[in-house]
Amino acid sequence: MGTPHIAAEAKDFAPAVLMPGDPKRAERMAGAILAQARLVTDVRGILGFTGVYAGEGEHQGKPLSIMASGMGMPSIGIYATELFRFFGVERIVRVGTAGGISPKVDVGDAIIGVGAHTTSSMNELRIPGTHFSAVADLAMAAAALAAAGGGRGKTHAGAIISSDHFYFKIPGQLEAMAAHGVLGVEMEAACLYGVAAEHGKGALAVLTVSDHLTKQGADMTAEERETVFQGALSLAVAAAFA
Ligand code: HPA
Repeated sequence: MGTPHIAAEAKDFAPAVLMPGDPKRAERMAGAILAQARLVTDVRGILGFTGVYAGEGEHQGKPLSIMASGMGMPSIGIYATELFRFFGVERIVRVGTAGGISPKVDVGDAIIGVGAHTTSSMNELRIPGTHFSAVADLAMAAAALAAAGGGRGKTHAGAIISSDHFYFKIPGQLEAMAAHGVLGVEMEAACLYGVAAEHGKGALAVLTVSDHLTKQGADMTAEERETVFQGALSLAVAAAFA
């Protein structure tokens, strides 16, 4: 079968999919946490793998897929729609990075994106005359939060903003976001949550704070980055099997 952007059979995906932005990260994650991993799609270099979870604990041996989303809301919207609509996927957990906005957040912390504000019009088009609220699946967010505590940094649960621009900054927007308690900025979650709502499926974004936009902080070493990423990954796995 296959779809315009995924060259696989419906049975090639597990009900739960972890979704980093970067295809190489998807490949590294598959090598690290899957057993019997096989490549199921590679259209446009967007790699997708399916195997069984190889980590310790109650979820060991359960089927799990890992597929990249690319960057930005149109990209994740295409893959999430095809996975939910044609491949029997029930839950997608975005595992990515965010720029810190709230002063409560530090580089290396994890953010569970309970809701996602956005500068994008993608959800605005869904229900005419309505400002759509892009919210995560509550059971998945609760499972991620319950798995927190093992990592090096703090874990925050709250609102994030999904931005269309990485470089362009609207004057004053960052300060206003910080004043409204927004934890961090990334570029995919709001669309993912909208697509999940459209299909009656579950979605969550679990983010590692890779840099901070409103306060100075020490940059992480490559080793620290990998350690904190592992922490966020364990929350994402808990959410995937919620
Ligand atoms: N903006 C958008 N996405 C990001 C950022 C940022 O500053 N940092 C990590 N992901």
